[in-house]
Amino acid sequence: MTMDATSQRLLMCRPTYFAVDYAINPWMDPSAPVDTALAVRQWEQLRQTYRDLGHTVEEITPVPGLPDMVFAANGGTVIDGKAMAVQFRDPQRADEAPAYRAWFEDAGFEMYDPKHVNEGEGDVLLAGDYLLAGTGFRTAHSSHAQLQEVFGYPVITMQLVDPRFYHLDTALTVLDERTVAYLPEAFSLGSQAVLRRLFPDAVHATMADAEVLGLNAVSDGRHVVLPAQATDLAAKLRDRGYETIGVDLSELRKAGGGPKCCTLRLRQGKASK
Ligand code: ARG
Repeated sequence: MTMDATSQRLLMCRPTYFAVDYAINPWMDPSAPVDTALAVRQWEQLRQTYRDLGHTVEEITPVPGLPDMVFAANGGTVIDGKAMAVQFRDPQRADEAPAYRAWFEDAGFEMYDPKHVNEGEGDVLLAGDYLLAGTGFRTAHSSHAQLQEVFGYPVITMQLVDPRFYHLDTALTVLDERTVAYLPEAFSLGSQAVLRRLFPDAVHATMADAEVLGLNAVSDGRHVVLPAQATDLAAKLRDRGYETIGVDLSELRKAGGGPKCCTLRLRQGKASK
């Protein structure tokens, strides 16, 4: 089997002000120590991994007092040159939204503003011709209709049921135009049935993989960058013909984030889809 890698344009935010000062998901424990310098080194390693794969990494300037801004996936949804800004559920992250919005505007994307809670690519994943949209914890179900109107892809609602997998990108990875990997039990029974129908060849991850945020991975269609600790998932992906690259983001995991959370895909137009 030959698999073609697509070179991607990615947005990242250095974790200069990273901390766990509040708890808005079950991974976050503000009383546990966090090593910000180590978080920065791990993040630089992730950035280098993308560069080595031939991707282009752009950076947004981190803002003091916004410790979760490193999670660029939550900054927006960018498809076909259109950027939808975000609206966070939690007030602690609210000020990230205008910072990312300004970046998209400067970069020349056609801007759309969210009418409801919408946490960007954390919950909105393009899988081939479908836009998979998570709800249950963060992104409001009411935002899914707006996503469909703005982007013109059929939106498939994914009901998340386990608070540890509060964003869609913690429970499901898009591997290429046809395939995904996911943790079935992170979804409602109805959503599991939808996933089986749409992706009969999907890779099923184990709870052990998901508990190290193994599904918070970034694929270019051939190479999959995922947490180094997700060894079973990596083996399954290699069996399918993908090349896996393990990265250690243990410090950022203390905030509930992994490689995908740190990475926003900037899809310019149809050609770079
Ligand atoms: N602490 C952040 C939050 O709870 C982590 C965000 C992770 N981002 C993601 N795309 N899953 O909002």
